[in-house]
Amino acid sequence: MSASFENVQVVTHPLIKRSLTVLRNAETASAAFRQHLRLIARLMTLAVTESVPVAPVQVRTPLADTSGVTLAHPIVLAPILRAGLGLADGVLEMIPDAQVAHLGLYRDEETLAPKVYYQNFPSGFSESDVILIDPMLATGGSSIAAASLLREQGAQTIRFLNLVSCPPGIEAFQRAHPDIPVITAAIDPELDERAYIVPGLGDAGDRTFGTA
Ligand code: PRP
Ligand code: URA
Repeated sequence: MSASFENVQVVTHPLIKRSLTVLRNAETASAAFRQHLRLIARLMTLAVTESVPVAPVQVRTPLADTSGVTLAHPIVLAPILRAGLGLADGVLEMIPDAQVAHLGLYRDEETLAPKVYYQNFPSGFSESDVILIDPMLATGGSSIAAASLLREQGAQTIRFLNLVSCPPGIEAFQRAHPDIPVITAAIDPELDERAYIVPGLGDAGDRTFGTA
């Protein structure tokens, strides 16, 4: 059983659990890993966008006028490179008109400090609903730094789409960004001595891109 935290939603749909199990399996090769990242991202998109505001619109069907909705604000996806890219592909299939901000960050494996090597943001996105995307929330260093960069660029409403988190990472992230909801597929029990999530799924970037 996983711990529960305020402002953290653990999404437990059977298809999400099935894909997460495939991702966790050390026998899963990169092609299937990428396929299930895209699948799970599509499913998680429904949860992460559940509370985005909508605006009413009128449309005419072939038979009559009717009312519907559109998204109230543009959506900006902000995947953390590299591993966030695999998830962002699936989210884009669900929100094809989303803009994408790229955040190049890696964790220095000696110090565990996040190193920023690339940033590219759409202009004027302060009115957008931003979805920060990273499959792994371990120490929290990378996602905390990424959310701070988004804030510096004017992002006001941020949601964090994650797959595997752990208590120390969630606690650190919430101390730094208490207003950002974390939508995850699992809260694993702990970090190992190299700050990898256990049981986790290993190095998400290496497994996605076959660089292990
Ligand atoms: C992984 C992962 C997160 C980070 C999580 O990226 O995708 O960004 O580690 O660890 P943290 O919570 O302790 O910061 P990594 O640094 O391995 O970069 P990569 O995706 O380019 O391999
Ligand atoms: N980064 C990963 O890719 N996996 C972990 O378990 C921790 C950090």
